[in-house]
Amino acid sequence: MSENVSKVVLAYSGGLDTTVAIKWFTEQGVDVVTFTAEIGQGINLKDVERRAYEAGSSKHYGLDLRNEFVSKYVIPAIRANANYEGEYPLSSALSRPLISSKLVEIAEKEKADAVAHGCTSKGNDQVRFDITVRALNPDLKVIAPTRIWRWTRQQEVEYARSRGLKIPESHSKYSIDQNLWGRSIEGGSLEDPWNEPPEEVFEWTVDPTKAPGEPQYITLGFEKGIPKTLNGAELDTTSIISQLNWLAGKHGIGRIDHMESRIIGFKSREVYEAPAATVILKAHRDLEKMILTRRELQFKELADREWTNLVYEGLWGDPLRQSLEDMIARMNLVVSGEVRIKLYKGNVSVVGRRSDYAAYSLDIAGYDEGWYPSDEEARGFIQAWGLHTLMARAARRGVQET
Ligand code: ARG
Repeated sequence: MSENVSKVVLAYSGGLDTTVAIKWFTEQGVDVVTFTAEIGQGINLKDVERRAYEAGSSKHYGLDLRNEFVSKYVIPAIRANANYEGEYPLSSALSRPLISSKLVEIAEKEKADAVAHGCTSKGNDQVRFDITVRALNPDLKVIAPTRIWRWTRQQEVEYARSRGLKIPESHSKYSIDQNLWGRSIEGGSLEDPWNEPPEEVFEWTVDPTKAPGEPQYITLGFEKGIPKTLNGAELDTTSIISQLNWLAGKHGIGRIDHMESRIIGFKSREVYEAPAATVILKAHRDLEKMILTRRELQFKELADREWTNLVYEGLWGDPLRQSLEDMIARMNLVVSGEVRIKLYKGNVSVVGRRSDYAAYSLDIAGYDEGWYPSDEEARGFIQAWGLHTLMARAARRGVQET
């Protein structure tokens, strides 16, 4: 490590890379403070803390950030219908700015001169950490030990053994990152895009062919674009997400197999499990379609896509992200109502929706009664509507036939 660093705050997952990193820093005389966030990835904060101290951490922070993750990151993503390249609900991408902001907070409090993370030099996550930290505090150095030492898994294991570090038993053939918005699985046999993901990669969803033979109906209630009720019961959004991960997962919903365009210029094969995100995003989008005007929907699609791309691309700190988010939140002030959803063998279908703000009217849209334009009204509208098109064609006759 070339930089002059005396104290570092390390984002510690409890896995092999970051455990080795603690030791690696301390061997160079760097004081290591560790930080682990609980964001629904299913860890035991106490176990992770013990491992951090065993590896040489001088002070450990274990913080339960589930509610903050949901309120500041997941809810804006729901409002923005965030699905990168139409498939990936951004689960890992959303967690990086949260972890970065805590790293900075702790580094300032601990008077550290650097922060560190365990990302490699090929992934998106390094970009998200590095830029977000620098956006929040340009004086802090960002160190990625794995990017520096470039060891293979085997070399890391040997280093750990030679230093008497316990190897986390859970290190599998896949690279996995998870939080309550979803699970990302990469590597192993998945690297050949022709290979079907083996059943063993899935932990939150059952094989859809083995899902219950009867459909299950649920009702999800939104207020200002935020999930607030499940089957009529008022719950905090974090609990709704956890319950839906379980409920939709048991119907085999939320498996995603995606050829993804990474920030660092190449394609990678990504597999995700995101049962709650799949259900909530579908329901939210459906409700918006009942409430927002055609022009709002068309414009919002552009804003949503831009917001999603910025977050994916590591630019949470870009001023445009916040501006878009403010506008999207404003458009969501009326996205309140209920959506009825059917879960069945890997499929989620919206089968009903209602809202006090619906731009839908049975009186206007119904075929049997209410408003019916007269023949004259209909022809008048159609004439005005088609005028531009018909005039242009007439003017171009003989020059540009279509
Ligand atoms: N491709 C996804 C993203 O860029 C997932 C990354 C997950 N990270 C991991 N270490 N497996 O957001």
